[in-house]
Amino acid sequence: MQLADMIGYCEEVEYLALQKYAELVTEGVILEIGTHQGKSAFYMASVAHVPVYTVDKYDYYLFDSYKEQLGLDVIKIQEDSTEVKWHRSLGLLFIDGAHIYEMIKNDFRRFEPSVMKGGFLLIHDFAGGPTMDGVPAFLEEIQDELNKRFETLETVDNLLCLQKK
Ligand SMILES: C[S@@+](CC[C@H](N)C(=O)[O-])C[C@H]1O[C@@H](n2cnc3c(N)ncnc32)[C@H](O)[C@@H]1O
Repeated sequence: MQLADMIGYCEEVEYLALQKYAELVTEGVILEIGTHQGKSAFYMASVAHVPVYTVDKYDYYLFDSYKEQLGLDVIKIQEDSTEVKWHRSLGLLFIDGAHIYEMIKNDFRRFEPSVMKGGFLLIHDFAGGPTMDGVPAFLEEIQDELNKRFETLETVDNLLCLQKK
């Protein structure tokens, strides 16, 4: 089994970008909101020097099989992201959970404070999509805050890549 063979929601270039930033993290841990079958988490875990955590409300049937076949360690937290109690410093936060306004707001407000100075914040579907207007709406609302506190590194397809100042 190759990483690219897994079922996932992102484009290959986006998975490669996640991998690129995950490999740069040397402090704190990596946290993903929105596991699905684990594709993005396993891409990051394949190169990570720090533990990779992933949160999802549901248990998707391929995650454990992918984990075994790839032999990669990802720590899965099966919980609603509004309930997770998080205390560890983050070298990278990838937000790709529920895309409605209230949820992207929750995920940002709940986990972003744990991102360390110099840490990466990656947000999927920043430009939205047919049923995903909540993400661009929230990002527009906090644009000034983001500009003050983060540097925009690049966008890769529908993935926004920021670094905390
Ligand atoms: C777009 S998918 C994630 C795709 C994954 N990052 C990938 O690239 O393979 C979004 C995920 O968010 C999860 N999700 C939705 N609402 C959630 C919530 N309240 N708490 C945690 N996870 C949630 C869904 O179950 C779904 O698996």
